[in-house]
Amino acid sequence: MKSIKDINFKGRKVLLRVDFNVPVDDNKNITDDTRMRESMPTINKLLADGAAIIIMAHFGRPKKGGFEPELTLAPVAKHLEELTGRTVKFTQALLGSGEPEALAAGLKDGEILLLENIRFYPGETKGDEALAEQLSKLGDCYINDAFGAAHREHSSTAVIAKFFPNDKYFGFLMENEVRNLEKLMQNPPRPFTAIIGGSKVSSKIGILENLLDKVDNMIIIGGMRYTFTKALGGKIGNSICEDDKLDLAKELMRRMDEKGVKYYLPVDSVIGDKFGNDANTQIVPSGEVPDGWESMDCGPESCKAIRDIILGSKTILWNGPAGVFELDTFAKGTRDIAQSVADACKQGCFAAVGGGDSVAAVKQMHLADQMSYVSTGGGAMLEYLEGKVLPGIKAIQD
Ligand code: 3PG
Repeated sequence: MKSIKDINFKGRKVLLRVDFNVPVDDNKNITDDTRMRESMPTINKLLADGAAIIIMAHFGRPKKGGFEPELTLAPVAKHLEELTGRTVKFTQALLGSGEPEALAAGLKDGEILLLENIRFYPGETKGDEALAEQLSKLGDCYINDAFGAAHREHSSTAVIAKFFPNDKYFGFLMENEVRNLEKLMQNPPRPFTAIIGGSKVSSKIGILENLLDKVDNMIIIGGMRYTFTKALGGKIGNSICEDDKLDLAKELMRRMDEKGVKYYLPVDSVIGDKFGNDANTQIVPSGEVPDGWESMDCGPESCKAIRDIILGSKTILWNGPAGVFELDTFAKGTRDIAQSVADACKQGCFAAVGGGDSVAAVKQMHLADQMSYVSTGGGAMLEYLEGKVLPGIKAIQD
């Protein structure tokens, strides 16, 4: 796989797929531009080479099969001008009208054209080949830097690559994600600890199963842990639980025992009498949550035990919060883990963090640059860790 770093794109018209699906507030102000900034090394390299860049990106999940004003990429275009310090050509006209085609044809070296939300084309999410071909005609090579959308087999993320059999590449963001994920999954330094949280076991079955053969320690946190605690005969009060997954939880624990994976379930819990920052709280053993109370975070004993496991690890994967991180009252467990993982990194541990709330915790604590790697992909990272082949990666590697 040729890296774009070894190629000079001067005079080329580069079709660049990025994931600029960034969060915005009610006034359409971007509240976290990480994904955009992470693609800047690729964009800057192309600009420095003297390429013309045609950027394809999606925003949200349009449903109407055409232009939807609330899902326009206009705020992204404006922010891209700030990040690049250059004018970004942007049109709300769709392909077929002749306007994007004319802008692309007239684009000069060092200029940027951002196409309107690519999901305004109904064919995009269906992986429509005709749309992919239409897009391919706008440029003369293809770079995919959209790791966040690499699990989607869409026209602009995967199908388009076939029109550039000898001229398709990963951007720097994508290359970095793939390199780090490969490092995690292939021969990681040991002990390798996975810290898996989130509210539902059902959304993490694939990752738990795939990691069984790979990790030495599995720390199970977040809402999903109560299904395990209940499966072990614990009383969990009103804590979140998937009763139809109790047998699965037992089976996963049996398989971890069989494979010699040490699994850790928090021994104590912070419980509350309601879901809110003003809840009354208590700390109780995890299997002794009284009725009417809900467990919403790890207790202090668990935080200490988890810290010890983290500091004894050489590789860490963290995906999912320890508790109800969005409520300050129940955020300590997640924050403690973020700090412990950062401390492990200082000792030379390789730690990868992914998933909305764990990444949010790391950012909120200003620890992101202390982690070995923070993924820009939510679903994409999860699917990779489940052992799935991501179409966006495969399309470039084929
Ligand atoms: C994301 O935000 O995870 C990616 O941009 C993918 O978005 P999607 O889940 O709507 O495909």
